[in-house]
Amino acid sequence: MNKTSLSFAYDPDSFRSQGIKLIDLIAAHLNNAMKGDQKPIHWTPLEEELRFWEAYMEDATASDFFPEILRRTTHIHHPKYVGHQVAATAPITTLTGMVSSLLNNGMAIYEMGMAPSAIERVVIDRICKQIGYAGDSGGFLTSGGSLANLTALLSARKAIVKHDVWNEGHSQPLGIMVCEESHYCVDRAAKIMGLGEKGIIKIPSTQDFSMNVSLLEAYFNKATSEGIEVFAIIGSAPSTATGAYDNLEAIGQFARQKKIWFHVDGAHGGAAIYSKKYKALLQGIEDADSVVIDGHKMLLMPTITTALLFKNKAHAQNTFSQQADYLLEENQEDIWYQSGKMTFECTKTMMCLHWYVLLKNYGEQLFDEYVTRQYDLAQSFAKLLVDDPCFELATHPQSNILCFRWIVPEKSNKELNRLNAAIRQQLLEDGEFYIVQTKLRGITYLRTSLMNPFTTPDHLTQLMEKIKTVAKSIN
Ligand SMILES: Cc1ncc(COP(=O)(O)O)c(C=O)c1O
Repeated sequence: MNKTSLSFAYDPDSFRSQGIKLIDLIAAHLNNAMKGDQKPIHWTPLEEELRFWEAYMEDATASDFFPEILRRTTHIHHPKYVGHQVAATAPITTLTGMVSSLLNNGMAIYEMGMAPSAIERVVIDRICKQIGYAGDSGGFLTSGGSLANLTALLSARKAIVKHDVWNEGHSQPLGIMVCEESHYCVDRAAKIMGLGEKGIIKIPSTQDFSMNVSLLEAYFNKATSEGIEVFAIIGSAPSTATGAYDNLEAIGQFARQKKIWFHVDGAHGGAAIYSKKYKALLQGIEDADSVVIDGHKMLLMPTITTALLFKNKAHAQNTFSQQADYLLEENQEDIWYQSGKMTFECTKTMMCLHWYVLLKNYGEQLFDEYVTRQYDLAQSFAKLLVDDPCFELATHPQSNILCFRWIVPEKSNKELNRLNAAIRQQLLEDGEFYIVQTKLRGITYLRTSLMNPFTTPDHLTQLMEKIKTVAKSIN
């Protein structure tokens, strides 16, 4: 890179004029998307998309980059976006994201992020209070639910397993207990930690896809009799595919009885701590040793920001320390301002800005309103589906995730699987709605996550009509 390129890249005037144009563009995009004027997705086959961007890179006369990106991405702010579990971000978090990108304070140590370190502490204290934790609690923000779950399990191993695995490696088989419906990142975390397949004790689910807690004792005893030291149990709040909440109270009780770590994967629905109407789904969460909540799922924030909270902050602060017996040490320094010592990352983004600005501007009330609205919407959608003989629910929704399928009485499950997969593919290519699909116990379902705060029952009725039209065209 020569000098001219550098000075060009850093020209404040050019940044300003590009920035103003971009804000206008994004605001117009937001307005159009929310009105539902265009489609939430303009489907392009992947080879075609790749060729487009290869050619664009070489084309000196190519049109503006930003409008092109808007045209060629999925529009999450569109009310007919009912697909994956990412937030239709509150627009102000676009601005906090921009500030974080420019200031780029990496936060590993206090002086490389003085304000964000303190801001993060304020945010963490507020979330802990909302969970119902007492004064010893603490935690931090980290890059995603997957990383947060891994970090929590590392904390669990350090706290519960007698042997010092961190310094000396494994000396005996270790295990965790989790529902078979849990997110795949728990499985991955366990594999990263060297627990192996046998160390992931999968508890079967009940008819409604939540953990069958009546089997806990038997599965624990079987693992123990095979020489596996079980050190943690994980409750999903909720699990990803169906949105079913595990019984946290029962899991917590079991963990206490067995003296093992109780972790709650609330990446998606931990946000219900803010909903006066639905927080009972999380009953028992206040007894968890650790809790994960994603800001970029049900709390209206951009990817990627996850809160990992601990009932006892000493665990948060010592996961990666060299000391084995830190809990026995007296006068432990509280290192809340040294993010890099607590998190897997060394450098991280100033993700706390999103949380702080939303809480400061709108208060917890914003999250209550949003979560309650979306969970209510799923109940309304379920009723519409139950009342229509062309559709079948996989299970009654507990959150804003809902799985259903198109049914034709005389068709076999195999034929229905093929038909529902074809419906979903056609919906994707058509683009009027964005929905996804999942397989549950061998059956293919259409799956919606009702993420958009402006989707209404009317949009969902239109979706059902669309599916009927598509299904008839396939038959
Ligand atoms: C229950 C649950 N846990 C963990 C994750 C992973 O979170 P992230 O995508 O933030 O890594 C997901 C993602 O969908 C999830 O639904």
